[in-house]
Amino acid sequence: MEFIQIQGGSPLKGEVSIQGSKNAALPVMAASVLVPGITVLKNCPEISDVSCMCEILKSVGAKVTREKKTLIIDASEIAHYRLPKEYVTRMRSSVILAGAMLGRCGRIAFHQPGGCVIGDRPIDLHIRALKQLGAVFEEEGESLSAYADRLRGRRIVLPIPSVGATENIVLAAVLAEGTTEIYRCAGEPEVRALCDFLNAAGAKVTGGGSHHITVEGVARLHDVTYRIEPDRIVAGTYLIGTLAAGGDVFLHNAPAGQLTAVTGPAAFMGARIQGGPEGMRVKMAGKIRSLGFLETGVYPAFPTDLQSPMLVAMCQAEGKGCLRERIFNGRMDVVSELNRMGAKIEVRENTALMEGGRRLCGCSVTARELRGGAALVLAGLCAEGFTQVYNRCFIDRGYEDIVRDLSSLGANIGSEG
Ligand code: EPZ
Repeated sequence: MEFIQIQGGSPLKGEVSIQGSKNAALPVMAASVLVPGITVLKNCPEISDVSCMCEILKSVGAKVTREKKTLIIDASEIAHYRLPKEYVTRMRSSVILAGAMLGRCGRIAFHQPGGCVIGDRPIDLHIRALKQLGAVFEEEGESLSAYADRLRGRRIVLPIPSVGATENIVLAAVLAEGTTEIYRCAGEPEVRALCDFLNAAGAKVTGGGSHHITVEGVARLHDVTYRIEPDRIVAGTYLIGTLAAGGDVFLHNAPAGQLTAVTGPAAFMGARIQGGPEGMRVKMAGKIRSLGFLETGVYPAFPTDLQSPMLVAMCQAEGKGCLRERIFNGRMDVVSELNRMGAKIEVRENTALMEGGRRLCGCSVTARELRGGAALVLAGLCAEGFTQVYNRCFIDRGYEDIVRDLSSLGANIGSEG
């Protein structure tokens, strides 16, 4: 079975170019269903979730070709509306095809989406909002189907700023009759990116990235070429890796402006960070200062996707630490593996309580989901001796090649098996 092997204990030194954003690429790929022509996406990350979304697009009739980081999607013909269970159950973001398919052809049939096991991941907010726009849903066990003679814009207030639900509503509203006002929506950069993409294709969306988005329905979108922005979570992962293991690195294209909730705590813990238009320089030497308390939240707060990587840095800092997860109710699986490496972390109701100042020791550990897997690789960078991280497939869902990237930052890392 394939695993990533890391020999820890040496600081990072080097530079790496940050890949395109997974969480921007996936909704934009779904949005290409609304374009009755050609969508060209540049800087698309070469990750398994993008490959999975390509297969789903092909299954509904789109033609998809890929030249390295450029995707060309021809959605002139959308001939089918049943999404293949094999792919939908592999990836949570398949649910945002609902809005796009209902907008384009008024029909969709799919299964409860799969994806990372990081807690309950209902889609009730998606379904409720799409019904408000006029969709009719039928559920039978794990299978769902929906149709809409005509989607009509209206005022929607989300009870929580769900990223996926916000994206689904925007996608369904683009070709709907009239105007849709979405209140208390998610303000993540990836939502803004989706709105920017749609406007480039001829939609009329304002407020992307704020908590109030307005979508004025249009008759038709046109061909579009769009560049996917760098991945703030991948950049944040390598920033935190340098904080935890020490070193001096440069992260080309890192979106510094989207990472202020990460650079603040990292600087407090001892890192020196310079952000600019070209990227971010991160330097760290000496002991990690304890942060004391940190909690995740919706953008621009500390991102839940960097919670597991940050645990690796916090559990080594001197003194006690506390990291509270406020977005998902099951995103602490990595703790048991970190404790096997010598950390002392106790989990109480989505809060990790740490006894810091402990040296991690390399051993065999198993990734159970994407960001927890990346965190285990960071732990291997810090640990004495050798660490083997199994289930690399989870990490490859969101990182183009974490071994390649960390090798270019001077890590002793390789892929075996
Ligand atoms: C997106 O997931 C991201 N995925 C996640 O990244 C990210 O962690 C999350 O947003 C939060 O920022 C993609 O963009 C593909 P939510 P999403 O809807 O849309 C609850 C990664 O590692 N909720 O904002 O699924 C939900 O259970 C992934 O790259 C409902 O209750 O997140 C959660 O507690 C992991 N009902 C909270 O809202 C719903 O209908 C936030 O979820 C929808 C969500």
